[in-house]
Amino acid sequence: MQKISIIGAGMTGATTALWLAERELADLVLMDVVEGMPQGKGLDMLETMPIIGRDVEIVGSNDYAATKGSDIIIITAGLPRKPGMSRDDLLSANADIVGKAATETLKHSPDAIYVVLTNPLDTMAYLTLKLNKLPRERVIGQAGVLDSARMRAFVAHEAGLSVENIQCYVLGGHGDEMVPLTRHSNVAGIPLRDYLPADKLEAIINRTRKGGGEIVNLLKSGSAYYAPSAAVAQMSEAILKDKHLILPCSAYMQGEYGLNDIFFGVPVKLGRGGMEKIVEYKLDADEKAQFEKSAAAVKETHEALKKLVKI
Ligand SMILES: NC(=O)c1ccc[n+]([C@@H]2O[C@H](COP(=O)([O-])OP(=O)(O)OC[C@H]3O[C@@H](n4cnc5c(N)ncnc54)[C@H](O)[C@@H]3O)[C@@H](O)[C@H]2O)c1
Repeated sequence: MQKISIIGAGMTGATTALWLAERELADLVLMDVVEGMPQGKGLDMLETMPIIGRDVEIVGSNDYAATKGSDIIIITAGLPRKPGMSRDDLLSANADIVGKAATETLKHSPDAIYVVLTNPLDTMAYLTLKLNKLPRERVIGQAGVLDSARMRAFVAHEAGLSVENIQCYVLGGHGDEMVPLTRHSNVAGIPLRDYLPADKLEAIINRTRKGGGEIVNLLKSGSAYYAPSAAVAQMSEAILKDKHLILPCSAYMQGEYGLNDIFFGVPVKLGRGGMEKIVEYKLDADEKAQFEKSAAAVKETHEALKKLVKI
């Protein structure tokens, strides 16, 4: 059996474990700093397996040694947003946590592929790559699957159609400047901008951009975790099953889309090698301008990180 370790057994980490167990993809380790909590959640989940008929080992631990030999390390440790906060407000607190999670896990799993969720997402993926000095194929950030799923849900609701008929591609940084593409997104093959009236489309784009904040404001403490964790489970499955599945993810750019030395949301091919390829869409002038604006915002957070951590 393959092995996935999840660092941070909070709302997102624990729910990720459940989605992964349901897929019977890998044995699982839940790791957290809170004593007893990952052990308790792990045991509860282990006892769930006979009911859902999945043969998966699940253990909780406070010790990084338990993550030894992992094929995938998922990093969800760190603070979530509170109402009124941007993802960037989490930078200094989460840089310490993610830095430690990245370096400690690498000691026990030198070949692992990293999937990072902790916010500010693009910059935490950048930190993981730089601190661990990994090839870019082995560090991927989760944002685009979630942002695209939010847009898909809103479009399906508006169109009165199955979510399966809706394909959406939200690219760019995982912040308010993200780029929902309306030409490439489609309803059963029809470009979204031809399918929905402009005002409805605009409303969906705005709601997608603020989708995380909408949930933060409703929950009042904590942020979304069902859809984010389902997203990371889909990415993990694509990797471990070597599916060569193209999904929007945050990847380290080396010239693609004219961007360099930045993690940015783009369509990537996921397989057993991790991020196997960045797919380049042809962008029109307006889409290019949106990409540049979003990249500038991400770059700013990367620069702020470099003032905090020597990388
Ligand atoms: N990229 C995305 O789409 C996405 C989606 C959801 C959440 N997130 C981010 O993921 C992070 C976690 O969110 P959550 O809702 O699960 O929060 P949460 O508070 O429920 O869980 C976070 C967990 O991290 C643990 N933790 C803190 N320091 C740690 C350390 N040094 N080592 C191991 N564990 C540690 C905490 O004890 C806690 O259990 C946040 O930064 C949030 O913004 C990102």
